[in-house]
Amino acid sequence: MSYQTKTSKKLFLEALQYMVGGVASSLHKAEHEEYPVYAAYGKGSKFWDVDGNEYIDYMGSFGPSILGFSPPELNQAVFRQIEFGTHFALPTESLNQLSKRLIEIIPCAEMVGYQSTGTEANMVNFRLARSYTGKTKIIKFEGNFHGWADELAISVKPMSLKSMGPRNRPWKCLESVGQSDHAADDIIVLPWNDIDILEKTILRHKDEIAAVITEPVMYNAEPIKPLPGYLEAMRELTRDNDILLIFDEVITGFRIALGGAQEYYGVTPDLVSFAKAFAGGYPIAGVAGRKDILQSGVHPAGTFNANPLCVAAALATLEIISRPGTYDELQRIASRITEGVNELAAQYNVKLWCDNQVSIWQLSFGIDGPMRDFRDNFKVDKQTYLDFYKRCLDRGIRLHSGRGRFYISTAHTDEDVDQTLAVFSDVFKEMFA
Ligand SMILES: Cc1ncc(COP(=O)(O)O)c(C=O)c1O
Repeated sequence: MSYQTKTSKKLFLEALQYMVGGVASSLHKAEHEEYPVYAAYGKGSKFWDVDGNEYIDYMGSFGPSILGFSPPELNQAVFRQIEFGTHFALPTESLNQLSKRLIEIIPCAEMVGYQSTGTEANMVNFRLARSYTGKTKIIKFEGNFHGWADELAISVKPMSLKSMGPRNRPWKCLESVGQSDHAADDIIVLPWNDIDILEKTILRHKDEIAAVITEPVMYNAEPIKPLPGYLEAMRELTRDNDILLIFDEVITGFRIALGGAQEYYGVTPDLVSFAKAFAGGYPIAGVAGRKDILQSGVHPAGTFNANPLCVAAALATLEIISRPGTYDELQRIASRITEGVNELAAQYNVKLWCDNQVSIWQLSFGIDGPMRDFRDNFKVDKQTYLDFYKRCLDRGIRLHSGRGRFYISTAHTDEDVDQTLAVFSDVFKEMFA
C-alpha cells in the first residue's frame, strides 16, 4: 500500500505563491520533504489528510496534543466559553481558578504569569531574571531551543561538529539571517550535561550571570536525558552563587509528570516556562516561580495573554490529565512501542537507540546508547531515519518529520500500538532484511 497525496501537493504549490516556503512555521514542512501532507481533520490518535488518507499520529502537533485530536471534553469546555465570549482583555474568574491550580501542581510555582507562546514565556523569564538579580548575562546550552526570538535562538542547531569548536571554550552562533549582530552578546553558551564546565564558568563570571536556562531534558535535538545528579548539581551551583535557575519546560511540562520535569526529577528551579501541552492544543503559555522574583517589577503586556478561550482549554486539559492513572497509562503505551522497536532492532541486527519517558519516546539510528550532549547528535544516522520516516508515512504512521522524538497522547490505544508495530515490522524488513 502506498498513499496518494495529489491534493496536498496541489495545495502546497498554490501556498508557495502566498507564503514564503509555503508554510506558516518553518517546521510545518521538513527540508527533505517535497511538500507536507495537508491535514483535513483529526480524531483521537489519528488524523486524515485532504486526500482521505488515515494516519496514526506521533507528532503530537509538536507537543500540545496530549489529549489527541478534537477531544470531546476539551471541545465542550471551549464551546461553553465561545458562547460567553472569546476575548475581553479583562480578567475572568476562570483565570483565578487556573492560577490556583498551577500553583498546586508545579513545584516551583508560588506565582504565575501568562503569555501565548513558549518563546514569549522565555523572554519574560529572561527579563525577570535580570530585573531580580540586577545582572545581565544568561547561560544557555548547545542545542537547547528556547524559541525563535533574537536572544533565544543562539547555538540551537550548529551545522557540524567542526563548526562548534572545542568543548571547553565558550562558543556561540546565531541561527538565522536577520538576527541582530548583538543578539548573543549577553548569552554564554556551554555544552550540556557537563557540570565541571558549568562550575568553572559560573565561578569565573558569577557577578555578571543572572540566570542559567536549561531544558531539563534535552528534547530539541535527538533526545538526551540529564546524567544522574546533573540537574541537582546545577541547582546547587546556581543557588550558591546567587544565580537563578530557569527550567524551560515547554516540552516537558505536563508531559513527563503533571508537575513537569521538576516533579519527575525532584529538582525545583527558581523559574519555569511552559506552553505546548498546557492547553491540549490551544495557544497559551506561562511562567511561574518564586514570589519575590515574579514581583520584581516586570509587567509583560500581551493582547491575547490568558484569553478566556485558552484558559478554559487549559483548565479542562489539567482536569483531564490530573485523573489518577494518566501518566502510568501514557508510560505503558510508550513502553510497548519502544519494546517493540527494540525487538525489531535485535531481530534485524540494526544499531539504534529507542527509549521513552512517559508520553515521549525516541528512536535514533546509528547509536546504541544514550547521548551525553548535542555534540553526540552528529553520531546519529539521520539519513536512515528520514528513509524510515517516509516509508512509515506512506503506510499511515506519522512520525516527526525531522528528528527521532515522538509524542503519544491519552487517546493512543493498544490497537494503535499493534498497528504501528506491524508497519514498523514491514519497514524494518524492507530496509534491513
Ligand atoms: C523547549 C522549548 N522552548 C521554547 C519553545 C518555543 O515555544 P513556541 O514555539 O511556543 O514559541 C519550544 C518550541 O518548540 C521548545 O521546544
